Amino acid sequence: MTPLRIGILGAGGATRGIHLPGFQLVPGVAVKAICDPNLDAAKAAGIADVTFSAGELLSRSDIDAVVIATPNDLHRDLLLRAVAAGKHVLCEKPLALNFGDAHDMLIAASKAGVVHMTAYTYRYTPALQYMKHLVDTGALGKIRSVRSAYLMALSGHLLGWRSTKARAGSGVLADIGSHLIHITELVAGEIASLCAMQRKFRDDPSSDVEDWFSFLAEMKSGAVAVFEISRVCAGRGAGITEDIFLELYGDAGSACFTLQDPWGLRVNLGQAAKDPSSPLERVNVPDEFLKIPGSPRDIHAHDPRWGYRFDQAWQFVSSVRAGESRAPSLADGVRCQAVLDAALISAESRSWVNIP
Ligand SMILES: NC(=O)c1ccc[n+]([C@@H]2O[C@H](COP(=O)([O-])OP(=O)(O)OC[C@H]3O[C@@H](n4cnc5c(N)ncnc54)[C@H](O)[C@@H]3O)[C@@H](O)[C@H]2O)c1
Repeated sequence: MTPLRIGILGAGGATRGIHLPGFQLVPGVAVKAICDPNLDAAKAAGIADVTFSAGELLSRSDIDAVVIATPNDLHRDLLLRAVAAGKHVLCEKPLALNFGDAHDMLIAASKAGVVHMTAYTYRYTPALQYMKHLVDTGALGKIRSVRSAYLMALSGHLLGWRSTKARAGSGVLADIGSHLIHITELVAGEIASLCAMQRKFRDDPSSDVEDWFSFLAEMKSGAVAVFEISRVCAGRGAGITEDIFLELYGDAGSACFTLQDPWGLRVNLGQAAKDPSSPLERVNVPDEFLKIPGSPRDIHAHDPRWGYRFDQAWQFVSSVRAGESRAPSLADGVRCQAVLDAALISAESRSWVNIP
């Protein structure tokens, strides 16, 4: 097998916590170089070949693919330069600051003929993969309502570039709302229209973005949905302890997910769903969903609340080897950006907005 040679742009939390440990698990992959203007951060990532120049990394002929894991405002420019240099790309979420920029990125990557992917890490969570299977096989019947929430405590890492519109696009919506919208649409189908509101709770003069965001939505299927996204929920954790809740209620049963229990799902299905006194019961996620097909990851090697993220590296590498931009491609990132833009317009205009 010819080794796949990877370069990484950005040596921050996402690279050190997700990308590097993920690629280490995939045979036949070499992370050749890492670029960060903060050379100390780059050196701390443990890759021998370090540069502060993205141009230098992108011009190397011994790099086949790049990961873009910088602050959001840099994704577009770096991706356009990477695909022009013929590199396959794994780009962090949210793809860009707005729909137009994200769309440009998809078009450029498609024209360049490279394999592309958006880093929607949570879709690899075993319980979400199982939930999607339950929906796809009709175990829940027709979905009537969806409750979707991503709640975390205010953590120091949220206070820098993530707190400004210019660098992040928006606040909690762009940062963790992008994940929530992607996984909700993955299992429950696309949002057709929404009505949003937002709040900036923190008295922080260096921040011009919201800390809390919520919206009602109508799904294309006719289901209704309630979303809440917050990074000011004390007790809801940060990093490995933060929580996502996704609850689906269909005409044949229910399934409820929490990120803190990624190997379990609470369900009410079949005959039980016909008995109003029958409660949700926790079931183990079946073994076949504990990692994505082909993933070389040992499912017992890491905390179950973190290890599934490493399947992203496998999904990217195997897509490059197959020469195919498989989900979540940049098209999934563009789709999410359409919902993010609509949500911001809705919150500002205090009105219902259709997703184009
Ligand atoms: N998929 C996930 O689960 C997940 C998790 C965390 C972060 N993210 C995303 O990853 C991206 C990075 O987030 P983070 O938490 O690692 O941020 P971070 O602030 O920890 O790290 C960003 C790094 O990028 C570097 N950088 C700045 N300009 C650069 C340039 N021109 N070239 C190369 N590097 C540059 C910074 O010096 C910093 O070291 C964001 O888009 C964020 O939304 C995704």
